Amino acid sequence: MNERDAALKALEWYTDNGVTEVLESEPQDKTIKIPDSFEGLKEATPDPGTFKANIPPETMPKKPSAKTESDLISSKDARAEAENLVKEASTLEELRKAIADFEGLSVKKTALNMVFCDGNPKAKVMVIGEAPGADEDKQGKPFVGASGQLLDKILGSIGLSREAETPDEALYISNILNWRPPGNRTPTPAEMSIALPFIEKHIALISPDILVLVGNTPMKTLLNTKEGIVKMRGNWHDYQPVSDIGLKLDKPIYALPTFHPAYLLRNPKQKKTVWADMLMLNKKRIELGISKA
Ligand code: URA
Repeated sequence: MNERDAALKALEWYTDNGVTEVLESEPQDKTIKIPDSFEGLKEATPDPGTFKANIPPETMPKKPSAKTESDLISSKDARAEAENLVKEASTLEELRKAIADFEGLSVKKTALNMVFCDGNPKAKVMVIGEAPGADEDKQGKPFVGASGQLLDKILGSIGLSREAETPDEALYISNILNWRPPGNRTPTPAEMSIALPFIEKHIALISPDILVLVGNTPMKTLLNTKEGIVKMRGNWHDYQPVSDIGLKLDKPIYALPTFHPAYLLRNPKQKKTVWADMLMLNKKRIELGISKA
């Protein structure tokens, strides 16, 4: 690998681990200067045939290691612990505390703040995203960055707001993961599985009439499907709890998958598709008597 590629790899490794902020106004060259003379180069590199850039080994990206048996067992244990914890949580505050105390998700260690919810807990419409990003991590609130502002506009177009006091106009917002994954990576299947009892208990405590699932991660996790968002959006789905924590719904919960606002920021042409989803959402609210039309 040449020096440039090695430096790029190291940078990629930093980004993957959430080191995305420049803390000093001037960049600093922390690499050891490569001597320009051939003599010096020979000294610095005992075998010129295997010359490598002088990047400290601890900053070099490590190949993702294959999952060991103990990793798999520990995700299973973490999921079992999450299931036990939620069984004991009967209020939102108890659930928030259970998640805050839970040590089974490594994303907790790299995040700045836990992101539990925003909006009105009496809302009839609950929005579920994937995981906090950098802005959400700083503020401890879901969907407060650029994609959150677009989400507010989209839902505002049919009269829904996280600030509304009346349950029919209100929104309640949370995410599958309550901690920002390093570098905003997509949550892994193991993380989604471990977090599932928490979000399912969260849904049960809010007891909304409608779930809006933004993007693939909440849709796949909560509708227990391998299908992609393109196939699943545009239709209503019957939400049924997936995890085995004894949740019984006392009414139907209608789930509407739609595109994630971050995707819309990159593909503005798809906004019309989401507008069609919002019209469906509004029609359902009217049918359920939770919108004035
Ligand atoms: N994207 C999400 O899925 N959730 C947030 O809270 C922010 C961005």
